[in-house]
Amino acid sequence: MDSRNGSETSQESDVKSFFRSAPPLQNGDLISANLRQFVDRNSRRLESGDPIKVVCVTSGGTTVPLEQRCVRYIDNFSSGYRGAASTEYFIKAGYSVIFLYRRGSCQPYCRYLLEDSFLDFFELNEESMIQVPESHATVVKTAIKDYHKAVEEGLLLKISFTTIFEYLQILKMVATSMSCFGQHGMFYLCAAVSDFYVPWESMAKHKIQSAGGPLDMRLNQVPKMLSVLRKEWAPSAFCISFKLETDPDILLQKADMALKKYQMHVVVANELATYKDEVIVVTAGGKTTVRRHGKDQDLEEQLIDLLVKEHKEYIG
Ligand code: PMT
Repeated sequence: MDSRNGSETSQESDVKSFFRSAPPLQNGDLISANLRQFVDRNSRRLESGDPIKVVCVTSGGTTVPLEQRCVRYIDNFSSGYRGAASTEYFIKAGYSVIFLYRRGSCQPYCRYLLEDSFLDFFELNEESMIQVPESHATVVKTAIKDYHKAVEEGLLLKISFTTIFEYLQILKMVATSMSCFGQHGMFYLCAAVSDFYVPWESMAKHKIQSAGGPLDMRLNQVPKMLSVLRKEWAPSAFCISFKLETDPDILLQKADMALKKYQMHVVVANELATYKDEVIVVTAGGKTTVRRHGKDQDLEEQLIDLLVKEHKEYIG
């Protein structure tokens, strides 16, 4: 066995042992039924000649529990804004979206609610009826209309996760069920995914006690699922991963590496200090910088525009 085959084998066994040790999903049957309904509806449209495209947008950070009855956990930075905004622009561009998001993170069509209080959008009139102040009326009406339209037309399916165990199990379910869309499927993986975890079977069952003094803990490496996604789960889909770094000197080098190593079609490179204002889209053909032009503009609008064009070329 050569070293390449050797490393593939060890990666496969890491992936298997990750899934074997993961606690079963609480609502796996419901997720699977909703997924089936969404995929059937969209694949019927594709079969009837409608050139639809389906994207799975992952969004928000995964947690790593330290106890089975979890009091403490390690988290990954992500508000979910990018995923929520991108979902809106994908739907606008004609895509159906499976939005796989961290519970409590930003949501499409109401991503501004985290900063502006929900209550600011409503007021009571003299008859104690709830109404929307004139200043917010257009935003609220548009959001309600667009959200309901997307759900009723079967263009948006939302599935939530919290832990790394839930995220990767659901991603696998989504990816394998999306394989029927072939090249019309896309993955836009902007969730911030944990790199280290505590295997479920070696995790403390109850709250770890502080009386025992300082805590020594060994974390296993989460196997990179990007290659499994590309090779096994959805081999024909168009795959976009993200690369987040804090050191600008290594960002592009890491993005180039991800493109080759995981055979991504696109890697979107961003730096923590500037990720809202600038990203670099890396493909085999070169690098394109996408910048937002003003504080009121979403960088995601231009980014999705570019990615939709890349996907169109890929489908050819
Ligand atoms: O949500 P916001 O606040 O708007 O922020 C958006 C963002 C900065 C989180 C987003 O733009 C972003 O960069 N997301 C990716 C963060 C991340 O996990 O980067 P990474 O370099 O650690 O991972 C690179 C890729 O590998 C990711 O696409 C991830 O899905 C994938 N991965 C990571 C770990 C792992 N074990 N398996 C994976 O497949």
